[in-house]
Amino acid sequence: MTIEKKIAVLKTPQALRDWHLQQIRDGKRIGFVPTMGALHDGHLSLVQKAKDHSDSVIASIFVNPTQFAPDEDFDSYPRTLDDDLEKLVSVGCAAAYCPVANDLYPEGNATKVYVEELSSILEGEHRPHFFGGVTNIVSRLFIHVAPDVAVFGEKDYQQLQIIKRMTKDLGMPIEVIGAETIRETDGLAMSSRNQYLSPDERKKAGNFAKALRDAATAIEAGKSISKAIKQAEKDIAKAGLGPINYVAVRDAETLEELGTDTLKQGVSARILTAAWMGKTRLIDNLPLKR
Ligand code: PAF
Repeated sequence: MTIEKKIAVLKTPQALRDWHLQQIRDGKRIGFVPTMGALHDGHLSLVQKAKDHSDSVIASIFVNPTQFAPDEDFDSYPRTLDDDLEKLVSVGCAAAYCPVANDLYPEGNATKVYVEELSSILEGEHRPHFFGGVTNIVSRLFIHVAPDVAVFGEKDYQQLQIIKRMTKDLGMPIEVIGAETIRETDGLAMSSRNQYLSPDERKKAGNFAKALRDAATAIEAGKSISKAIKQAEKDIAKAGLGPINYVAVRDAETLEELGTDTLKQGVSARILTAAWMGKTRLIDNLPLKR
């Protein structure tokens, strides 16, 4: 059976509009999972979550050039469309939107969407181009797909908060939901970029997740934030990663700093980190509450 018989493969904005109209006629609530392809179980869990909150799920597959800096991996980013479509079928995704760059960034376009402040801290300090690229593409995809609900992984926690803020600021009638990070058995957060790790780096990478988990446990038990961060930095370096871009404890929604003392009771916080393992940049985060 051809793939088109198992899932609606929508290659143009017009095909997407026709599909969308049919869903509305059928009274369906539309769930949306934007992706850059190279799908793994983490993405598939987002589709599952979108299914829990809607009647018909569409995923987009588009490697967005504007969120890569010139020295990053846009050209080598894994492109595995046939596999991706089969994986989407396996979790009951109804449609895949696979546009080309010109559909989303028409010739000569001059419009940009940018969330001030939140986009320039943490990841934004180290990848200044990144969140501007993400909000540009996600705002465009939201307009094209017009979903009722959209699901993003907590693995990219800052991205999730920025998209929530963008959606609220622009008054988009879309519910943005976060889905828990899916991990390998050694705790490493799943990511399309994990395939860049050599076998030796991959073995060590489990200790990156462990360092973060240990810091989270210590903070929740009352250890000072500054001491827990220092210990995590030591553990991450010992695991063979470096340079470490940041280990930070922030308010879970605003990502504002929370000081260096013990985490206050009742505050929802997040511990976030980014560090290099050889040529691969790993990020991770965990919730914190006392
Ligand atoms: O998280 C991702 O895969 C990307 O940043 C997204 C949201 C699909 C935008 O290109």
